[in-house]
Amino acid sequence: MNTIPKITLKRCKNDDWQIVEKMEKVAKSRLFSPFEGEKKIKEYIRKSEVYMILKGDDPIGTVSYEVKKDGHILFNGLVVLPKYRKRGIGSTAIQKALKRAGNRKAELIVHPENTVALIIYLKLGFKIKSWKDNYFGDGESRLILWKD
Ligand SMILES: CC(C)(COP(=O)(O)OP(=O)(O)OC[C@H]1O[C@@H](n2cnc3c(N)ncnc32)[C@H](O)[C@@H]1OP(=O)(O)O)[C@@H](O)C(=O)NCCC(=O)NCCS
Repeated sequence: MNTIPKITLKRCKNDDWQIVEKMEKVAKSRLFSPFEGEKKIKEYIRKSEVYMILKGDDPIGTVSYEVKKDGHILFNGLVVLPKYRKRGIGSTAIQKALKRAGNRKAELIVHPENTVALIIYLKLGFKIKSWKDNYFGDGESRLILWKD
């Protein structure tokens, strides 16, 4: 059985914006709407808890959530660099971020055809609550998931 590589999470600072942008660009597809440009990424880092996923000292992805007014968290980013995928890192990163947030109620938005991400979330106990057409204005639908 393969073991999951050891990863740690480190909170991103403003200065990390270029690394974050690189990760977002790598993940860009019809199924994943990235944060783009210095202004948008810096705003993302300021408004959300954005964590670098580190393997040793190497950044290999990001995971992020926003704390909403009512206290629940909204996961608004998960990227693992292609080279490091399919080893359990994405799933572990979400679990670590949930723990950091005190295992509070969590919301998540995912493209209905992003089966890799969707399966990770369902396995972690998220449940599909609704379907929204054109959620980000890009003509693509999204599923809204919740975990108590
Ligand atoms: C989604 C993403 C973060 C997953 O990262 P990852 O590190 O590969 O995920 P994991 O290795 O934890 O995968 C978890 C499960 O999915 C399975 N899986 C992962 N990639 C898969 C693939 N390409 N095909 C089939 N199954 C896959 C794994 O086997 C694992 O299942 P298991 O628990 O039964 O072993 C990564 O694919 C990514 O960065 N995608 C682009 C950005 C994106 O779509 N983010 C999600 C936005 S909501």
